[in-house]
Amino acid sequence: MLQKKKEREQKQNRRFRIHERIEIGHCLFLLREFLLSSLSVSESSKLSCRQMHVQASLEAKTWLFPGMGNSDARRKPFFIGKAIMVASVVALCIIFVKQPSFFKGTSQFSHHETGVTHVLVTGGAGYIGSHAALRLLKDSYRVTIVDNLSRGNLGAVKVLQELFPEPGRLQFIYADLGDGKAVSYSQNAFDAVMHFAAVAYVGESTLEPLRYYHNITSNTLTVLEAMAAHGVKTLIYSSTCATYGEPEKMPITEATPQAPINPYGKAKKMAEDIILDFSRRSGMAVMILRYFNVIGSDPKGRLGEAPRPELREHGRISGACFDAALGIIPGLKVRGTDYKTVDGTCIRDYIDVTDLVDAHVKALAKARPKTVGIYNVGTGKGRSVKEFVEACKKATGVQIKVEYLDRRPGDYAEVYSDPSKINRELNWTAQYTDLQQSLQIAWRWQKLHRNGYGGPRLSLIS
Ligand SMILES: NC(=O)c1ccc[n+]([C@@H]2O[C@H](COP(=O)([O-])OP(=O)(O)OC[C@H]3O[C@@H](n4cnc5c(N)ncnc54)[C@H](O)[C@@H]3O)[C@@H](O)[C@H]2O)c1
Repeated sequence: MLQKKKEREQKQNRRFRIHERIEIGHCLFLLREFLLSSLSVSESSKLSCRQMHVQASLEAKTWLFPGMGNSDARRKPFFIGKAIMVASVVALCIIFVKQPSFFKGTSQFSHHETGVTHVLVTGGAGYIGSHAALRLLKDSYRVTIVDNLSRGNLGAVKVLQELFPEPGRLQFIYADLGDGKAVSYSQNAFDAVMHFAAVAYVGESTLEPLRYYHNITSNTLTVLEAMAAHGVKTLIYSSTCATYGEPEKMPITEATPQAPINPYGKAKKMAEDIILDFSRRSGMAVMILRYFNVIGSDPKGRLGEAPRPELREHGRISGACFDAALGIIPGLKVRGTDYKTVDGTCIRDYIDVTDLVDAHVKALAKARPKTVGIYNVGTGKGRSVKEFVEACKKATGVQIKVEYLDRRPGDYAEVYSDPSKINRELNWTAQYTDLQQSLQIAWRWQKLHRNGYGGPRLSLIS
C-alpha cells in the first residue's frame, strides 16, 4: 500500500518536472529567439502571444538551445537587461495562455458576422490547404487553420499571416483533429469546413494502414460530430481518385464504381460514405471533390510544396523531379516502360493547385443545404510519365538523369478524369493545363526555398 503510494507520488513528481522543463524550454527558446538576429524582434512580435507559445513549445522539443553557453562578457549588462525584459514577456505570455478565458468569446472569430463567411481549413499548413487558405483570404473569407504540423509547415502559416495581418482575418490553431475539444468549435463561429487534413501517401498507407484509417476515416467522423454539435452546416471534403481503384474504362466519371485498392483510397472512400450517410439526415451542404494528381504552386511565389524529407521515399513525381534537379537525389527512377500507352509509361492527370483551390471556392459558393455534390477535379487530359519528365527538364533547365526500371506492383497504366460534370455544374475549368508552365512556377519556389519554409524540420505527432 505504502509502496504504491510512494510510486504514485514519484510518478506525479516526474510528470511535474517534465512539464516544468517544457515551460522552462519555452522561456529559454523565447529568450533565444529574442536575442538571435536571424529571427528579428519585429518578426517575432508579429506573432500573437499564443502563437509564440505554440512555436516555442514545438521548437522546445527539438532544440538544445545552442549558443546559451556563448556568453560575451562585454555584452553582459545589455544581455541582463534584455533577459529581464524577455523573462517578463514570457511570464506574461504564460499567464495569458493559462487564463481559461483568454481565447473565449471576445474575438471576431467567435461571432457570426453578416456578409463574412468563416471557413475552418483543416490541414491549412499543408501544401493544398495553405494554397486554399491563401485564396480564401484573398477573396475576403475569414479563415481559421487547424493543423497539428505533423506534415505541414508553420512557415506557410506565417506567410499567410504576414499577407493578411488585419484582425479577424486569419487565426491558427495548433491541434490534432482527433481532439475535437482542442479545435475549439465551441469558441469559434465557423460557417463552413474545408477538410484537407490527412496523411496522403499511397505507399505509406500500405505499410501503416491503421494510421491511415485513424487519421482519415476516424478524424473525419470527429470533424462531422463536432460540426453537428455546433451547427456548422457546410462541408467541402478533399477526396481522391484513389477511391476509384483500377477502373477498366477511361476517363473516370463520378459514376465510375469506387473500388479502392489501397488503405489510403479505402480510408477516403469510408470517410466519403460516412459523410454521405450523415448528410442524408442532417440537411448538410456537402461537396466532395475527388482530386487527381496535384502539382504546381502559387504563381506569385508566396507558397510552395514542402513535404518532409523523410517522406521522400513515398513522394510524388513532381517532388522527385525537383529533388533530382536540385541534386538532392541522383536522378529520377521511372518504373514501367511496357504499359499499353503511347510511350509505354503510365498516364496520369495532373491538376494545378491553383485550379484545384479555385474548384474549392466555386464548390463552397454553390454548396446548398440538403444537397451533395460529388466532382472529379482533373484536367481531363492524361500525360505520360515520359512527357512529365521532359516537361520537368525544360522547366528546371537541368538535364535530369533518368533511370528506367521494371514496373512497380500495384501501379495502373492509365488514370485520367472526365471533368465535364464540374465544368457544367460549377462552371469550373482547369486554366493551368500547360505542364511545363506549372512546373516552372513550382520550380521558381523550390529554387528559392531549398530548405522548404526554412528552420528545423520538426517531427511531431502524426
Ligand atoms: N497532393 C495530392 O496530389 C492529393 C491528391 C488527392 C487528394 N489529396 C488530398 O488533399 C488533402 C491535402 O493533401 P496535401 O497534399 O496538401 O497534404 P499535406 O501533407 O501537404 O497536408 C496535410 C496537412 O494536414 C495536417 N494533418 C494531418 N493529420 C492531421 C491531424 N490529425 N490533425 C491536424 N492536422 C493534420 C498535416 O500536418 C498537413 O499540414 C489530403 O486530404 C489528401 O488526401 C491530395
